[in-house]
Amino acid sequence: MSVLSNKRILLGVTGSIAAYKAADLASKLTQAGAQVDAILTDAAQKFVTPLTFQSVTGRRAYADSDLWGDEAHVLHVGLGHTADLLVIAPCTANTLAKLAHGQADSLLTVTALASTCPLLIAPAMDGGMYNHAATQENLDTLKKRGAYILEPSEGHLASGLSGKGRLPETPELIGRIRVILGRDGWLANRKVIVTAGGTQEPLDPVRVLTNKSSGKQGYALAQAALDAGAQVTLITTPTSLTPPVGAEVVHVQTAKQMLDAVLSQSSDAEVLIMAAAVADFRPKNAAQDKMKKESGVPQVELEGTEDILKAVAGRRSEMKRLKVVVGFAAESRDLLENAANKLESKRLDLIAANDISASDAGFSVETNRVTLLFADGRKEALPLMSKMDTAETMIERIAGLLE
Ligand code: CTP
Repeated sequence: MSVLSNKRILLGVTGSIAAYKAADLASKLTQAGAQVDAILTDAAQKFVTPLTFQSVTGRRAYADSDLWGDEAHVLHVGLGHTADLLVIAPCTANTLAKLAHGQADSLLTVTALASTCPLLIAPAMDGGMYNHAATQENLDTLKKRGAYILEPSEGHLASGLSGKGRLPETPELIGRIRVILGRDGWLANRKVIVTAGGTQEPLDPVRVLTNKSSGKQGYALAQAALDAGAQVTLITTPTSLTPPVGAEVVHVQTAKQMLDAVLSQSSDAEVLIMAAAVADFRPKNAAQDKMKKESGVPQVELEGTEDILKAVAGRRSEMKRLKVVVGFAAESRDLLENAANKLESKRLDLIAANDISASDAGFSVETNRVTLLFADGRKEALPLMSKMDTAETMIERIAGLLE
């Protein structure tokens, strides 16, 4: 169950050219399981219509004409009280000013006054209007009252100018929404470190020794921890994936860099999840210059890398807050036996045993099938699931270990 499942989101849409992007947001939120009720201002309807939103949400969308309809006396209160979140995206300078001053002259602004849920505002306007002292003061007022403000992004504006005023893209908006909805989750205010991806060990300036890890399971764990309210640090090797919104990201390449990052981040963390596929061997002497084929086939001498989880185990007494350490066991044979040995030798609280010989689980694919082995002897075989579902289940179990 994602943090968006069955959540009631009120989406206020105002009269900015970016209103068309709000339809995509409504659609993606709906696809993720949220119930989205859109409220359009009169100006928004110059760009998009309630039908646009009804078509993508499958729910009625509201306009100012509803303010004077049959249910008018209760509509704004009903909408405002049942919502988990009110998002106003895009929010014009005009609506921002009305919100800051408690004006209630449209269904959206009257609903904003009546609502008791958190408010996320995504201003979108011309750069000059955004920077104007009036707009900035209104934003400050709303921030002081506890509203979440998603700063506009920089770039091309409808005016033809370039500046700060663009509505951020849908994934950024959804990422912020997830963080707000997850704020009181199982891991609220706990620092969680997740490592992800395959490390890269240089052979020369252009070549590396690496592995087939895509980083997908680690990124999914970082997202699931954020959804559960955690403060997440994602230590990642280069991947093609976009880090989840809200995570602090530390970029590393080699096993040694990952070790250093994990040790420095672990001093105040409560959970460490080592989902990364860390190299066990690296070239002993990486060439300074590119190896040339005229020089013949190189003989590469390898040396061992340090085991990060074992290094953490050796320093647990210094890591006062660290309560749960989780590893993965990527195995092509004797899965549970090898995983149980790693659980013990690396002094883990939980290990996810991963059969990498299966084509539908492990490296690179979208799904995973892991068996969880706990330090207290419990064993739980999870079915074949998406990596996100696997991550959510693991985060739930980790939260259980923290209690
Ligand atoms: N790991 C680590 N440091 C290493 C290698 C692995 O911390 N140098 C972590 C991985 O992130 C994973 C767990 O240890 O959580 C098990 O990794 P895996 O590759 O399955 O096992 P190894 O310990 O490397 O042993 P082997 O490759 O021989 O099976």
